[in-house]
Formats: sequence, structure tokens, C-alpha cells
Amino acid sequence: MSKKITIAIDGFSSTGKSTLAKQLAKHLGYVYVDSGAMYRAVTYFAMQNGCVGPDFFDKQTLINSLPFIKLHFEFNPDLGFAEMYLNGENVEAAIRTIEVSGYVSKIAEVSEVRAKLVEQQQEMGKDKGIVMDGRDIGTVVFPDAELKVFMTASPETRARRRYDELQAKGQEVSFEAVLKNVVERDHIDTHREDSPLVMADGAIEIDNSALTREEQFDAVLALVDQVSKSL
Ligand code: DC
Repeated sequence: MSKKITIAIDGFSSTGKSTLAKQLAKHLGYVYVDSGAMYRAVTYFAMQNGCVGPDFFDKQTLINSLPFIKLHFEFNPDLGFAEMYLNGENVEAAIRTIEVSGYVSKIAEVSEVRAKLVEQQQEMGKDKGIVMDGRDIGTVVFPDAELKVFMTASPETRARRRYDELQAKGQEVSFEAVLKNVVERDHIDTHREDSPLVMADGAIEIDNSALTREEQFDAVLALVDQVSKSL
């Protein structure tokens, strides 16, 4: 049996990171962790507790509240992946709204939030056999990951995917609003001071604008095989 490795998948929003990560985890029998869900859950907490709103952000209250934010994932066999829980409540659907997407970059800029989540993520990956996706997985969370993938696609391609997802879930939103959110998040994610989104040393870039899910999966699986054999 080949040795278990750590797979770090980073990239811009809506590049299909989670689809790929879930496919890989299922195929390899690895744990899949959606680190973005953790930032979204903290954002949802901040919204519910009056720390963030349309024209304010009470960063200090959020920082003071961090010890009271308990996050965990629970595998749902019907869905085939682990859902996000915040203080014992399943928030998987609540964290995927356009409102949460609108505030999440602001929350993800807070170093105290990042430190807490990174520590938890490193703990989850200590036995390897994990696929984690996010923005700083190959640079900060698992800089020694055996395989690092950096995914890109044009903003329009990504906004179209996100728009279709939201439509399928029955959320009323315009394509323009989704594109604006994608472009704004790209800017904040790549320009923040703490752990900006950059391609990690040794990462392999995959632009999937013109790739099908299967082509992308096959390409990354070949990389996994290559890495596993070289260990
Ligand atoms: O992957 P996503 O779009 O669900 O992530 C939501 C936000 O969380 C994204 O705008 C940036 C932030 N994020 C982060 O800063 N670091 C991570 N490892 C994952 C997500």
C-alpha cells in the first residue's frame, strides 16, 4: 500500500477546489477538510452575534469571542462529505449564502482568527492522509505537504459556476452581483497582510477554465501517484 500523503489545494474562490478535493479524498480514502467552511462559520457567528454588519465591524468583540467558537466537521454518509458544525449546530447551508460570502474576506483578514483556525487545521492533518483546500494550505498550514496544487480559472468562469450553484439552491442573486463578489474577494484575499493568497513554493498550477472535472481529476491523480511512488 502506498504511503499516505498530505495534499494541499489552494486557489481563488470558485475554482472547483472543493469538488476536486472531495473526489480525491473519496478515491484515496483520505479525510477531506474544507478550510473555507471554517472561515465561513466564524463569519456566520460574527453576523449572528452583532460583530459584523453592512456598515460596521466590531473586530475586538469577535476576537474576545473566539474561545466560545467551537467548530467541528461531521461526516454525512448521505452526502459523502463532512458538514460544518458551529457550537453543535449544523451550519452547512447557512454558511453558503451570498451574505456570508460578502463578509468572509473581512473576517479572514483577522490574524487572531487565522491563528485559531490554522492550529485546528494542523491538528486535523497530523496523521496525513488528508486533502485540505483553501488559500494558505500549501504556504502556512502544511508547508511540507507532499503535493501542493494551485488552481486558477478566469473570474467570469468562476462567477458563472458560483451563480449556477446559487440558482440551483434557489437563491435569488444576479450574475453581476456574483461576479462583483468574486472580484472583490480575489482582491482582498491576495492583498491581505496575514497569509495572502499566493502560490506556494513547489505548487503545481492548474488552470481549469477549459478542463472537465474528469480531466482535472485524472491530471491530479497522476500527480498523486507520481509523488507517492517517489517516497
Ligand atoms: O473557499 P471559500 O470561498 O469557501 O472561502 C471563503 C473565504 O475564506 C475566502 O474568501 C477566503 C477565506 N479563506 C482563507 O482566508 N483561508 C483559507 N484557508 C480558506 C478560506
